[in-house]
Amino acid sequence: MPFDRSIKIAPSILSADFADFGREIRAIEDQGADWVHVDVMDGHFVPNLTFGPPAVKAFRPHVKTVMDVHLMIAPVDPYIEAYAAAGADIITAHLEAGPHPHRTLQAIRATGRKAGISLNPGTPAGAISELLDLVDMVLVMSVNPGFGGQRFIPASIEKVRQLRAMIGDRPIHIQVDGGVDPVTVGPLVAAGADCFVAGSAVFKGGSVDAPEVYGANIRAIRDAAEGARVAAE
Ligand code: DX5
Ligand code: ZN
Repeated sequence: MPFDRSIKIAPSILSADFADFGREIRAIEDQGADWVHVDVMDGHFVPNLTFGPPAVKAFRPHVKTVMDVHLMIAPVDPYIEAYAAAGADIITAHLEAGPHPHRTLQAIRATGRKAGISLNPGTPAGAISELLDLVDMVLVMSVNPGFGGQRFIPASIEKVRQLRAMIGDRPIHIQVDGGVDPVTVGPLVAAGADCFVAGSAVFKGGSVDAPEVYGANIRAIRDAAEGARVAAE
């Protein structure tokens, strides 16, 4: 995975048909998704439950792009190797998942996977200042994690701006997750984000039998993002 700051759209399969993940993944990739975002929830760190390592392993053969695994679990360290073995390309853990995020990031890097750190809406950008040499991606949660379809928190835009200044020339992606759509993506791009997770804004109105709707939804987000980048230059 070579690094670049081109706009990347990562549909969250939390909004897919849970009885049909293989076809859903193929549909979003055929329709222009750059990455596939997998939301792992434990009913403890967040009030919802989703995918264990066997589920993620079952997704793997269907993903031709990049499998972007967002771990909303605590503790997280005991499960890193299992999600790496399941085929994650990027593993993102939450800063708030435990007292030793530095150790968590070392453990992710030790698996050979790309390492991400995620910040809840209540956590300031500066909280990761000592971790930047260990991360490939910073994930700004723009809703409280746990569910799709929530309203975007506007303060996330300023947090992205601060992170972009902290990151400077380092090869670190800034990803935003929660309430991303063609309206909210513009200011996020202007602030310096390059990767966008979108659940409801990609899957709404479509299905594996009407995948062109996914394509139109992805294009609408990408066009708004690229337009905002041109305007910011
Ligand atoms: C929320 C998850 C998100 C979620 C985004 O806890 O991390 O990835 O699926 O869904 P939307 O785009 O609907 O806000
Ligand atoms: Zn997510």
